Amino acid sequence: MLRGKVAIVTGASSGIGQAIADIYSKNGADVVLAARSIEISRSIAKRLRRRDHTDPVALEIDVEKEGDPQLLLKETIKRYGKVDILTNVAGFAMKDALWNKAFHSVSDEELLKVLNVDLLGAFRCCKAAIPHMKARSSGVIICISSTPAIAGYDKGAPYTIAKAGILGMVKHIAYEYGQFNIRAYALALGNIKTPKTFDHLTKEQKLKLTKEAPLRRWGSPEEVAGTALILASEHASFVTGQTIVVDGGTVMR
Ligand SMILES: NC(=O)c1ccc[n+]([C@@H]2O[C@H](COP(=O)([O-])OP(=O)(O)OC[C@H]3O[C@@H](n4cnc5c(N)ncnc54)[C@H](OP(=O)(O)O)[C@@H]3O)[C@@H](O)[C@H]2O)c1
Repeated sequence: MLRGKVAIVTGASSGIGQAIADIYSKNGADVVLAARSIEISRSIAKRLRRRDHTDPVALEIDVEKEGDPQLLLKETIKRYGKVDILTNVAGFAMKDALWNKAFHSVSDEELLKVLNVDLLGAFRCCKAAIPHMKARSSGVIICISSTPAIAGYDKGAPYTIAKAGILGMVKHIAYEYGQFNIRAYALALGNIKTPKTFDHLTKEQKLKLTKEAPLRRWGSPEEVAGTALILASEHASFVTGQTIVVDGGTVMR
């Protein structure tokens, strides 16, 4: 589905980003795995190369640093001559203390920390990629959001604010750059079973969250990746600006 395509995935060193990099490569794309943990990303790239006979590369990128997304694009263009797909997955690793903090207790600094990765990180990568996509009149941008950005939640206020920003940014990009054949999407995810979200929960918490969705289970990173693959491919060529909810049916609109 993606043979001949070059796809950047931020946050590719673990969880959902890794699953997206995996499925893109399996479907023929040359994947640029961008994250801070370079050794982990390198070993994933090595595995994909051997398995899929594609040409993946790992780059050490911190999306919090203003210059890194520009570097990411520069290195991608230098190596492959183009970028077809940008998938922004990198997300701030929020600790329980901040997650459980009441909205009125969140400091500017705490909010900015989360915004700087989840929203500004994606913003910086989009800004870096769009001129190249525009010049080629072709590109797909996928950004990871979350269901609290649509339905609200009683925890994780900085996260909800950052992920809601993603929804607006995606619509803006779709509108402004649709004329250049650039498509943009947000994936609003529900409970996805990654080590980061699942492993530290108590048995009761896991069960409570399992029951949230009509499908009565957690989603897998591979199920998110499957949705990203369809959007990144030509099968979604007349769809843009949409928020696709991947949550087992908890949030229906
Ligand atoms: N799992 C869920 O239930 C769920 C639900 C809704 C939304 N999401 C969103 O889905 C995304 C992935 O979540 P996950 O569960 O797969 O978490 P994860 O396993 O912790 O993955 C987060 C990824 O982001 C990267 N990252 C973090 N800070 C970064 C930075 N400053 N620069 C570059 N990369 C950075 C991490 O790599 P390094 O540490 O190597 O940099 C890692 O690869 C996040 O945006 C999250 O908010 C997840």
